[in-house]
Amino acid sequence: MSALTGLQCHLCKATFPAEAIYVCDQCLGPLEPAYDYGAIHLTREEVERRPKNLWRYRELLPIVGRPLTGFNSGFTPLVRCDRLAARLGVSELYIKDDSVNHPTLSYKDRVVSVAATRAVELGFSVLACASTGNLANSVAAHAARLGIECCVFIPDNLEAGKLLGSAIFNPTILAIAGNYDDVNRLCTQVGDRYGWGFVNINLRSYYAEGAKTMGFEIVEQLGWRYPKHLVSPVAGGTLLPRLVRGLREMREIGLVDGDLPRVYAAQAAGCAPVVHALQAGLEHPEPVRPDTIAKSIAIGNPADGYQVIESVKATGGAGAAVTDAGIVDAIKLLAETEGIFTEPAGGTTLAATIDLIARGVIARDESIVVCVTGNGYKTAEVVADRLTTPVRLSRAFKEFEAWHASREVLA
Ligand SMILES: Cc1ncc(COP(=O)(O)O)c(C=O)c1O
Ligand SMILES: [Zn+2]
Repeated sequence: MSALTGLQCHLCKATFPAEAIYVCDQCLGPLEPAYDYGAIHLTREEVERRPKNLWRYRELLPIVGRPLTGFNSGFTPLVRCDRLAARLGVSELYIKDDSVNHPTLSYKDRVVSVAATRAVELGFSVLACASTGNLANSVAAHAARLGIECCVFIPDNLEAGKLLGSAIFNPTILAIAGNYDDVNRLCTQVGDRYGWGFVNINLRSYYAEGAKTMGFEIVEQLGWRYPKHLVSPVAGGTLLPRLVRGLREMREIGLVDGDLPRVYAAQAAGCAPVVHALQAGLEHPEPVRPDTIAKSIAIGNPADGYQVIESVKATGGAGAAVTDAGIVDAIKLLAETEGIFTEPAGGTTLAATIDLIARGVIARDESIVVCVTGNGYKTAEVVADRLTTPVRLSRAFKEFEAWHASREVLA
């Protein structure tokens, strides 16, 4: 079913077999799956006939057998947001809403569905990851469903909801004293020594491909056309370059035509190595020490930073870094105008969009898609002091009447 032919170095184009390897032994570049695009005969009608999950694009995903998990993952809503658009003074705005991805409420259910399937194909018996929270939730859930052993590594300061979202699936959880970059370094050593399947380290080449499905769906849900502008959060740098790669592949196999959208990188000002590099004209980000409420995207040394910068530049996009206060304001604005509750990663992306519109980088009369990648119920802390509080009344009707009479706005 898949047109996978092997792995290829992103930089020097050397080819390798499709094993659990992720760096080129010639030039240390990242490896990515290669496909025989000429062998793919996928039509819009065929895609539309398939179940509404991320596997509707399985020819462009790096597994060789049948999908094993993720049968309800992906195909999340693309929500046209007219009330929010009016507030921002733009004409055509959409949220790609992965805050309701199944089963763990973030975009990570896409990448994990692919990585977990490939991990089983490659014979791994332990599924693991280095995570800022959402990835651990997803790895734990998919491992539970597959019935395979699971060990997740996280920084020891995560939000309660993120911890709960892993613990409920009963994996082994290792909370490491340090930030994500420390956790990632440790996991690289563990993967090398113990041969566990780390979805975002030794299985990274496969894992990252799952992120393309978000781009595929956006095009399909827009009626088989590209938007003009696409705004993505950036942490480790998995999502943004794969959105672009997926959008290119769709054109390559004839599912869409026209110009790629301009793609923009959104980061929190307290952890913006990629945005800084874009502004400074660097090809590689300089690592930073994260300090932001947006913990899910607090990665100071992004694994795929180079590819993010390359992709943003190739599409004529830009970067935007936003303050923690701007992130919370954007979470509130999205909730109050569109009924969508996102976590700080989504707040970052929307705040960055607002900034790009205000600066005139994004034109007000062109279509804009904003990627919302995680759910606000997991990070209640960040909005706790900004919430409407309940009016407390007894059961007596006259007490309600007294309260109602004191108000003018509720008819
Ligand atoms: C909610 C959410 N959004 C976005 C990201 C961005 O990740 P990346 O740039 O590695 O694709 C992450 C995780 O790291 C996340 O948890
Ligand atoms: Zn190479």
